[in-house]
Amino acid sequence: MLFRQLIDAPTGTHSYLLADEKSSSAVLIDSVFEQHLRDLALIRELDLKLLYTLDTHVHADHVTGAWLMKEALGSMIAIAKASGAEESDMLLEHGAQIAFGGLSLEARATPGHTNGCLTYVLPDESMAFTGDALLIRGAGRTDFQEGDPHTLFKSVREQILSLQGDCSLYPGHDYSGRCATTVTEERRHNPRLGDQVREEDFVGYMNNLGLPHPNRIDEAVPANLRCGKPTDDSSFPGTPDWGPVIRTFAGVWQIEPEWVFKNQSEVSIIDVREHEEIKASPMGRLPGSAVIPLSVLRDRIHEASNAKPLVFVCPAGARSAIAATIFEKEGFERVANLRGGILEWRSIGLPVEL
Ligand SMILES: [Fe+2]
Repeated sequence: MLFRQLIDAPTGTHSYLLADEKSSSAVLIDSVFEQHLRDLALIRELDLKLLYTLDTHVHADHVTGAWLMKEALGSMIAIAKASGAEESDMLLEHGAQIAFGGLSLEARATPGHTNGCLTYVLPDESMAFTGDALLIRGAGRTDFQEGDPHTLFKSVREQILSLQGDCSLYPGHDYSGRCATTVTEERRHNPRLGDQVREEDFVGYMNNLGLPHPNRIDEAVPANLRCGKPTDDSSFPGTPDWGPVIRTFAGVWQIEPEWVFKNQSEVSIIDVREHEEIKASPMGRLPGSAVIPLSVLRDRIHEASNAKPLVFVCPAGARSAIAATIFEKEGFERVANLRGGILEWRSIGLPVEL
């Protein structure tokens, strides 16, 4: 199984990508709206077929990326029936199986943080994704949404800490840089829910946390009850519309050489090699390209016009990726790195000037 843990630092949210490597079928658990382009890039670069986005519950601190992923890749949105969410494709109840290729996850109802909390468990109990029911050395809050500490205590004890001892547990959040734990660890060391803690101790603990109201609850809960479907276009983590530009997992805007060739008059092409290097190279240059070497690029940004989108090029696309990033940081919105550089341009038979 392919497994990736992804973190949204501002909200401490953990997302999980799981895939069956034989069929490339994948699921994404607890995606984050603002991280859509990052997650989409990873799924594309790993050549995965995203079948489902799964949410563990209606989050109060961030908006799910489920709807955006459905728009981009046609994945199905799955969430608990008890969540009350609309816009989903599959409403899950306790015991539901989510199959992806030769793998599957079982949904276990673990209410108490919210009514619709689910924990997703691999059939061999090697991994479970607990959302906010069980956190590492902690537990999700029970003081808003439909929180109830008695219910959460029962859910965690009966559905999560009853799994085999070496089952790895992956939470929906962590705010201290911790990534995973196990059933045995939490039974021994969880101060709220470990074996030594009684239900009345837990309820007393949870009822006296005194935490501030979540910052984004008024925005996040209604949006998550729509599975992340925006009410307007203004808040999209947008993909540029000037050409088929994609965001790579490395965080660079990238464009295909075929499109650039067909639309050369619509863009400005900037070669970032040194002048001497270009003269000495047998590779040639892209027709109509200007030269601003990477070594002086930061000092010469003012020479560039943003009248047309800027496409950066170098032999293999490495230095030009840095150039595109420099321009993006300087506020140029329409920039892209030429995928594969001059090597790919030539390899697919596009013309160069010698
Ligand atoms: Fe939550």
